[in-house]
Amino acid sequence: MIRCAVVGATGFTGIELIKILVRHPGVSLTALTTRQDKPIPVNDLIPVLSRKTSLVVRNYAWKELLRSADLFFICLPHTEAAQTAAKLFRAGKIVIDLSADARLKRASDYVTWYGHKHPAPQILKKSVYGLPEIYREKIREANLIANPGCYPTGAALALWPLVKRGLIELDSIIIDAKSGVSGAGKKLSPAAHFCEVDQNFKAYKVNTHQHTPEIEQTLSDQAGRPVKVTFVPHLLPIDRGILSTVYARRKKGVNPAAVVKAFQEAYADEAFVRFRGEGVFPPVKDTTGTNFCDIGVAADCAGGRIIVISAIDNLLKGASGQAVQNMNIRFDFPEGQGLL
Ligand SMILES: NC(=O)c1ccc[n+]([C@@H]2O[C@H](COP(=O)([O-])OP(=O)(O)OC[C@H]3O[C@@H](n4cnc5c(N)ncnc54)[C@H](OP(=O)(O)O)[C@@H]3O)[C@@H](O)[C@H]2O)c1
Repeated sequence: MIRCAVVGATGFTGIELIKILVRHPGVSLTALTTRQDKPIPVNDLIPVLSRKTSLVVRNYAWKELLRSADLFFICLPHTEAAQTAAKLFRAGKIVIDLSADARLKRASDYVTWYGHKHPAPQILKKSVYGLPEIYREKIREANLIANPGCYPTGAALALWPLVKRGLIELDSIIIDAKSGVSGAGKKLSPAAHFCEVDQNFKAYKVNTHQHTPEIEQTLSDQAGRPVKVTFVPHLLPIDRGILSTVYARRKKGVNPAAVVKAFQEAYADEAFVRFRGEGVFPPVKDTTGTNFCDIGVAADCAGGRIIVISAIDNLLKGASGQAVQNMNIRFDFPEGQGLL
């Protein structure tokens, strides 16, 4: 049994992790943390949990936390997460960080997109980016796994088969993505208020969203040269789910059949990516409550354009489900354990 802790267990991703991990046969949940003084029984925090449990979320002193587990899921806001991840990693623990703090390889990108210096830049060289469909072999060996962001998961899975095979013009990529409100976490802000979101639909952080360099980093790695994208996120009046509509131009001489084949071959053996085929476009609801990413493609559009549509649940394939998938890979459990 792997002893595992969830740090920041009262938030949206922490709660999803607890829901999965209480049923996982390979792990024992030994610490669930909050900053709050009053302990919270898990059955009160998650009333939908069908399993009766004596688990409690509570405040831990650092030394007690360190002794409590071997694997730590960090579900803290970015910037908060970095020091905790660094200290746990230094202490020889295995860390899966759901925040953005271990994802970007260049600390200067963090300054540009997050607006301040990285609090623990030493972790950036040690972390492995935890997108299993691309980096599975590195994840097997990693002690610090940077779990990908929700938008970058949907965008990268829609694009990397095309980028890797050199099928599209790299300067033609446009990602038009829409997310449910849980993407912003449980802390209330005016923009996420019910009256702002309900019956409304709007773009935000146009061309300035902090997930842009993360998407570019993955695609650049796959292309073997720098890739820039246009990324426009939108807020949908739904709880959870991300639909990404991605546009790119086919390279001259590349026929539409090669585009379809790239997706078929990339995902033939993947448990969690369902390529729905040419002309079949997934709605977000097909992935709600699951760790699946569903993908459809229109490979033969006017002007040589390709349209790829991907759907995920931001809290599962975009966060906690993918974190468990990474744990399964790292500890040699069946990859779908607890998730299928
Ligand atoms: N939501 C998503 O779809 C999603 C997807 C991918 C990645 N992520 C990332 O995963 C991390 C957790 O996201 P989340 O959606 O679970 O966030 P959340 O709902 O806001 O929860 C974060 C938790 O961290 C704790 N916390 C500790 N220090 C904090 C501080 N200084 N300010 C605020 N909260 C603090 C809070 O618990 P207490 O108040 O009980 O201490 C809170 O419950 C974030 O870095 C986020 O960017 C989120």
